Amino acid sequence: MSGSGRAAGRPVGAVTRGTTGHNRLRRGDRWIAAVHGRLLRSAGRPLVVDLGYGASHTTTLELFTRLRRVAPGVEVVGIEIDPARVALAEPYEREGLSFRLGGFELPVPRPPTLVRAFNVLRQYDEDEAWHYWDVLRAGLAPGGVLVEGTSSENGRRAVWVGLSPCGPETVTFSARFEAFERPSDLADRLPKTLIHRNVPGERIHAFLSDFDRAWAVSAPYGAHGRRQRWLAAIGLLSESWPVPARPPLGGAARWRLGELTLPWSAVDPR
Ligand SMILES: C[S@@+](CC[C@H](N)C(=O)[O-])C[C@H]1O[C@@H](n2cnc3c(N)ncnc32)[C@H](O)[C@@H]1O
Repeated sequence: MSGSGRAAGRPVGAVTRGTTGHNRLRRGDRWIAAVHGRLLRSAGRPLVVDLGYGASHTTTLELFTRLRRVAPGVEVVGIEIDPARVALAEPYEREGLSFRLGGFELPVPRPPTLVRAFNVLRQYDEDEAWHYWDVLRAGLAPGGVLVEGTSSENGRRAVWVGLSPCGPETVTFSARFEAFERPSDLADRLPKTLIHRNVPGERIHAFLSDFDRAWAVSAPYGAHGRRQRWLAAIGLLSESWPVPARPPLGGAARWRLGELTLPWSAVDPR
């Protein structure tokens, strides 16, 4: 994508399609609250950035509402590179929730504890996606987190990566049980840094192939519902992949939601 260099005073990045919708990012919000709620509660003045919120303020307001339940002191800033989208969102500001014009430079008063960027980097080139991962994590508060992901338009399928200031740490696959035939259907939601690597010989491809096999072998559990089949498939997959088995990243309470988190190192294409 052209036009993504830094010009003096201009937000870094490029305006892209603003597609968004109610509850589109619910699966990711739920994961952020469960996995990073403690981080947000322990930060002195936790600042969360929602980067690239799109044509409406909706998903930023939903993130704010969900995070305030687990971390009442959290402040959320929605950042958009399109001035018209900022003007549309501003009437919805309230105590702890604001919107501003900006880009990857993150024009906020202090380093954020958490940055959420969903359905933003997929519209950039792969090289740019790797680069902006580095830019964004360099701007985090110490111990902070970047959650960068992609979802379907209705939010029923999503994949996201959790990054610390040191680099990518986790990748999470999440889907409503009725929203896929086999786990590799989530491949079309892989983040930009992985989607072109889903070819034979790459780890992400091996993982999704093994997940499909485990899902097929677990078909008899489908008699008790797709959730039971998913749990059985994860049990099998855990024999050959380093699936975290304990909260907050793993364990039945998370898997039951149609979720699976892996350490990034298991699929790292670099
Ligand atoms: C497809 S929308 C996603 C909206 C919302 N995050 C969602 O997932 O429903 C992507 C938005 O990101 C914005 N965007 C793209 N690059 C950006 C950047 N560098 N900084 C801020 N916003 C950006 C685009 O203008 C667009 O409105």
